[in-house]
Formats: sequence, C-alpha cells, structure tokens
Amino acid sequence: MPSECVFGAQWGDEGKGKIIDRLAVGADYVVRYQGGANAGHTVVVGDEKFVLHLIPSGILHPGKINVVGNGVALDPEALLSELDGLLERGVKVDGTNLRVSASAHVIFDHHRLMDNLAEKWKGEGKIGTTGRGIGPCYADKASRTGVRIGDLLDADRLAPLLKAAMDEKNAWITTVHGEESIDFDAQLKRFLALGDRLRPFVGDVGGEVRRANREGKSILFEGAQGALLDIDHGTYPYVTSSNTGTAGIAAGAGFPANQIGGAYGIAKAYCTRVGEGPFPTEDHGDQGQKLRDEGNEYGATTGRPRRCGWFDAIATQFTCDINGATGLIVTNLDVLSAFDTLRIGIGYSAGGQKLEGYPAGLVDLEDIEVNYEDHEGWDEDITAVRKWDDLPAKAQAYVERLEALVGTPIVMLSVGPERDQIIPRGLEA
Ligand code: IMP
Repeated sequence: MPSECVFGAQWGDEGKGKIIDRLAVGADYVVRYQGGANAGHTVVVGDEKFVLHLIPSGILHPGKINVVGNGVALDPEALLSELDGLLERGVKVDGTNLRVSASAHVIFDHHRLMDNLAEKWKGEGKIGTTGRGIGPCYADKASRTGVRIGDLLDADRLAPLLKAAMDEKNAWITTVHGEESIDFDAQLKRFLALGDRLRPFVGDVGGEVRRANREGKSILFEGAQGALLDIDHGTYPYVTSSNTGTAGIAAGAGFPANQIGGAYGIAKAYCTRVGEGPFPTEDHGDQGQKLRDEGNEYGATTGRPRRCGWFDAIATQFTCDINGATGLIVTNLDVLSAFDTLRIGIGYSAGGQKLEGYPAGLVDLEDIEVNYEDHEGWDEDITAVRKWDDLPAKAQAYVERLEALVGTPIVMLSVGPERDQIIPRGLEA
C-alpha cells in the first residue's frame, strides 16, 4: 500500500473509525488532516469500545505512527484528555507514535464560546454545530489572527498573539453578545501548561510524512466528517469549516497532491445526518425511527439523535466522483436485516423536472423530490457472515445495485462494529 485515504462519502458518521483501524494494519503512518474534536471515530476491540476525536484511529495498533496534521483545528485539552484516557487503558501513546503539527491551529475557550454564541444568534437559521469551536478557529486561521500549536511552546511568543486575539474576541463577546469576557491571564497560564505537555509530540510533521513517503513507507490519510459537509462542495452553509475529502489532504497534511494514491469512500448502507441542513432521502416516519433504533444512531461526540433515511445514490455518486474514489466501502449492512422493504434514492426532480445527477451549486436541495427504487429486504442475521458468497441473495442484489448506481466498485462491506465483522470484496485488509 503506498499512500491511500479514507473519506466519508455522506454526511459523516459512516463508520470510518472502524475501517481506518482495519486498514491501518497495512500502514506505517495514519494521518488526520482536517476537522477537530467535532469528529468521533468509534473503534471496537473485543469488549472494549474506543471513541477517538482527535487522535488518529491507527493508535490502537502498536508500531504505527499517528499524525495530527497542520490542517486540524486542535483543542489541546481535548487531545490530552483523549491521550490520558488511552494511557489509562494501557494503550501506548508517546512522542514516537503520536506526532502533532506545530502549525495546527489552536482551539481556545473563546472559540468554543463564539461557536455557541453564533449559533444562538442565528436562531432558527443555526447550523447545528457540535459546539467544539471549529468554525471560529478556522475563521481566525483565514483572518490571520489564529494561534498555532508551536506558539504554545514559547511564553514570549504566545502572550502577545493571544492578547491580540482575545482583545478582539472579548469585545465581541461582551458588546455584541452581552456575555462575560474570558480572562486573559488564566487562559494564557492554562494554555502554556498544555503546551508544555504537548512539547514531546510537536514538530514539523509534514516534513516527517513526506520523508516517510520518499522512503516508500505506506501512509493512510484519515478524513473526518463527510464529503457532503465539505466547506466548498457540501450543502453550504450547513457544512463544517474544512475540506473533508481528498482535496483537504495536500493542504492539511503538507503532502504533495500528486502523491495521494487510492481513495476509499465510506458510506452506510442507508444514510444519516446530524445538525441542520438538507437531507433529501430523510425518512421522517416510522422507518426512519427504526433505522435510528436498529443502527443505534446517536452521535459519538454529542450524543444527539441522528436524522435517518435511505441510501442516496445520487449524492454518493457525486461524492465519489469529486473525491476520485477508487473504491466504496459500505458499512452497517447488518442494520438493514430488520427491514421488509429497502429504498434507494435514484434520482432527483425539481419543479416536476428530472435533474441530471447531483445539483452542485446553488440549487436548494430542500426543494428537491427524490425518486426511489424499492428493494425487498432479507431477514437473515448477517453479522457473522465473512464471505460475499455467504450473504443472502437479496443482500447481494442490494449491494450490487448500489454499486451500479454509484458507479464505483464496492470493495468491502462491514456487518457490525467489531474489527473482524468485515466482508472483503476486492480489498483485503
Ligand atoms: P461543526 O463542525 O461543529 O462546526 O459543525 C458543522 C456541521 O457539521 C454540523 O451539522 C455538525 O453536526 C456536522 N458535523 C461536524 N462534525 C461531524 C462529524 O464528525 N459527524 C457528523 N457530523 C458532523
């Protein structure tokens, strides 16, 4: 495996953590390049469940080097508490297997506060963010008022940068929102202490990964969120604030774009979304509720119930296309065993007119009607199936139909949360 990447092909929560943990077996490096602690990647190992927010999902495999790239919006407290949790559970984490970019932007208390205040300000029009300060941190980065992880390592450097940033934020917090300002001295002291703890992990990780690539090491890039939450190509403004797909890798990891190899899109066999925004195949009725119950569709980061609906072949075709997917991995197929009829969204119409493919651009997805194809479900429990030939014929037919509609080979299926609940279909891991 040279360099490869895994990205979410829907609105996030596709089960990327488990797949990355699985593919990490063949990788030397696992690299996060965007997002932050808004992500929640769940990995189940035997009786133990790990939910990783910032630390790459390769951390559970000894000998792999896990990298938090410059494109990540990094909350140092969240990272260190995750690290402590792993250490307590006997997972080795030190400066040799966890590397953090000095150029990653820091999420401070004011970013989290501004995130929540902005949501309140928007009222009905809120995005439904995770409240982790992601948007305000990336906004500061783009405004060139951000503070980076490397800055936390030097008090003389941090103090004026943080002061300038906080003076402006506090003016907003107090004057516009009428809330209490955040204390500069206390935050400075706390973040210097956090910087001290982070010191052994921090470096020019982009350079380290490029060197590893030149030496022929295998690198797995771990996308967070999903392609439909991409800031440029997702359902703007109901998106996150980074490039969630393959396009984010070059900038967010300092890795040459022409060296990025295979790209695996991950999609559930149905579809979910958290937060606000359009979701054409959402099922507001009892079948949506049944998907939520059977799939235990509650957020790994916020615990919010996820909105549930049917596989959207049009949107998934678009995300595979724009990210150059070389394969699609379909997860949670086992959840569908409980359904008599399965629906697949196969086309969109607007104002009575059939649309050609996915309407990128300014067409309002809220006004779209979905044309569905119905499939007979299967009722066998498939959680113990490990080979394609052992799947019920109706499950095979459903997967083959998804593949034909999306136009990307389905190279692996997942039939449960455990590491070994995988059906290879071209991709061995
Ligand atoms: P933010 O990333 O917290 O700013 O949230 C922006 C939008 O992205 C909201 O709709 C969130 O629910 C959604 N979002 C952010 N991270 C995730 C994730 O890891 N899974 C699913 N949705 C996410």
